[in-house]
Amino acid sequence: MPASHLSGRPFLQVPGPTNVPERVLRAMDRAVIDHRGPEFAALTKQILPLLRRVFGTTTADPILYPASGTGGWEAALVNVLAPGDRVLAFNHGHFSAQFAQTARNLGFDVDEVPLRWGQPLDPAVLEAKLKADARNANAPSSYKLVLAVQNETSTGVLSDVGAVRRAIDAARHDALLIVDAVSALGSTPFEFDEWRVDVALAGSQKGLMLPPGLAVLCIGPRAKAAAETGGSPRHFFDWRPILRDNAAGFFPYTPATLLLFGLREALTMLVEEERLENVYARHARLAAAVRAAVGAWRDAGLGILCESDAHHSPTLTAVTMPPGIDSDTAIKHARERFGLSLGVGLGQIKGKVLRIGHLGALNELEVLGTLGGVELALRECGVPLTLGAGVAAAQRSFVNAPADPASARDTARGQSAEPAKRPAAAEQPHRPTALTTP
Ligand SMILES: Cc1ncc(COP(=O)(O)O)c(C=O)c1O
Repeated sequence: MPASHLSGRPFLQVPGPTNVPERVLRAMDRAVIDHRGPEFAALTKQILPLLRRVFGTTTADPILYPASGTGGWEAALVNVLAPGDRVLAFNHGHFSAQFAQTARNLGFDVDEVPLRWGQPLDPAVLEAKLKADARNANAPSSYKLVLAVQNETSTGVLSDVGAVRRAIDAARHDALLIVDAVSALGSTPFEFDEWRVDVALAGSQKGLMLPPGLAVLCIGPRAKAAAETGGSPRHFFDWRPILRDNAAGFFPYTPATLLLFGLREALTMLVEEERLENVYARHARLAAAVRAAVGAWRDAGLGILCESDAHHSPTLTAVTMPPGIDSDTAIKHARERFGLSLGVGLGQIKGKVLRIGHLGALNELEVLGTLGGVELALRECGVPLTLGAGVAAAQRSFVNAPADPASARDTARGQSAEPAKRPAAAEQPHRPTALTTP
């Protein structure tokens, strides 16, 4: 039966787009206003400072485009790089690979370092690459830019952006740093100023709890200076006229007016009401429960793709399948039988993992419902797991996990945010499951 004929609320548990809260939907359910009038200017002026807080900056400028994260990649690249400029990128998942491919397609010279899918960006490798390059600092081949993906949405791995910055500093390299925070922003700490990021980018449809449709960037002083005098031929993505018009609350094109009303509401909820440290702690708590559930399924041959506990994503978990089980089959069954949407395996891990999204507007009971649905779908597809084992492990994790904002900060800094209490045997930290690696 098609999922649209099922009664009850569909469970959208892909790692973005995420569920849009009723309040945000209502904020967008209104008449369109004149984007050159004073009401619109006031809206922009409310949004930009709230976005600065989500990015963790007092010095950089947020920029919005009616686009998706992919548009954010392109915007970031064409503003700061000239054709032929050299870029250092890492391939440790589908999105980091696609980010590098975007740069190649735009005519930049990309040095792509292959890592295992399931690994974070390795700061030691970064430092070594930059040190080797810095020896030729005046040669035209020197890297202009480092691309980093904070949260690899295909593998469920969080990289430590602070460590990336320290590696660049240790190599005494002056490359700019662009960070893709598409599936991290608004769900786990982002410290634009502290990490001295030059450009960060995200999309509206993940932690920001909006429908797809906005690329959300933040640009620092060095990136702004690079764009002033250089960059590539560009028009729509040129952020210079946007910065100029934004200062008065306007845009040089027709903005996505209603999405911006939604954005103001979502940011108010995250920044001023729940408050960011609690939002991050909630994500860490939900993620720990999902991992506990997968730990309880280990006897049935399931595992977690992320190779190290310290780098588990706070926003999604990529679950590896037992031999002989195609994850696409289980995902199709979950959707058609239970109205539960889960993320598919992308690229080289197609059919090998299913991804449980646990980000955005989400609570404990929704996570338990999702895990119950995953158990049912897997069991009905022939996986011999004990029904309820994962749900019970997640419940125990909730009971044991302190709702402590400090644990979320530790997660972003690459330290484990597991509950302080020693987990039961079924919830011991998992051993990662080896998969095809580049
Ligand atoms: C880490 C990451 N970067 C980039 C993208 C591309 O964003 P979009 O699909 O909004 O174009 C995604 C999409 O899921 C993503 O997860």
